[in-house]
Amino acid sequence: MKTSTAEEVKIKKIFDWLTENHFVPEDCKFSNDQYRYIRKQVLNNISLPGTTITPIMERFLYTISSSNRIKNIVVFGSYYGYALSWLLSGGIDNQDRNVVGIDIDSEACVGANQNLMRIKNTLNGNATFSIENQDALKEMDCIDDHSIDLCFLDIDVNGSKKEYIDLLEIWEDKMSQGGIILAHDPLVDKFQEDFSAFHEFIKTNDSFSHYVTLPLDFCGIDLFKRT
Ligand SMILES: C[S@@+](CC[C@H](N)C(=O)[O-])C[C@H]1O[C@@H](n2cnc3c(N)ncnc32)[C@H](O)[C@@H]1O
Repeated sequence: MKTSTAEEVKIKKIFDWLTENHFVPEDCKFSNDQYRYIRKQVLNNISLPGTTITPIMERFLYTISSSNRIKNIVVFGSYYGYALSWLLSGGIDNQDRNVVGIDIDSEACVGANQNLMRIKNTLNGNATFSIENQDALKEMDCIDDHSIDLCFLDIDVNGSKKEYIDLLEIWEDKMSQGGIILAHDPLVDKFQEDFSAFHEFIKTNDSFSHYVTLPLDFCGIDLFKRT
């Protein structure tokens, strides 16, 4: 067995704190050897123009999605499926797991579908996925009320993150009780005004609790829960 890297130690400490404080389910698994194997397979089977998802963020998404209590995951702004691939592979053996990516860009959706298909086949996975070429700011009937256990907000409209509030308003009834919401990029300088309004909205809204901003990398990630 190899020794843990600084990044692995950091993520382990963060998950210990998140589970102790009931931000995430207690069964979020942390296996370095399994992760190193899966990471190689994911990177060998994915092709995309670029991403701001860093290695430590990959590891975070993979670990949070390893919980068997999380069944349905939705990514708003899935692009070529990079974040989605870590959220899929963390629960790849879970036959109750379904991951949905929604993006308005049709070319990116074709790429995401191909990427995820290759990853699922290589890992011989039981989890299912679909990519929806839709506007995430419109409600979708194909997703049931109270069914989303984890979602990842990452739409970027004309270089702004203002629409995160709209996403919450449109989708909050689709979230399960205690469902986890992740929002990417709270630490990016150019989004500071958007995130001030977003954080104020979360803190003053009874539909949400357990809010924290995790400074994992230069983008950061918000985590909070649907009450
Ligand atoms: C920063 S990228 C997302 C990166 C991605 N999460 C990843 O893992 O690499 C933002 C994405 O939001 C998508 N987007 C912007 N507005 C949208 C909308 N209204 N509905 C769905 N997707 C949208 C864009 O097409 C783009 O692919």
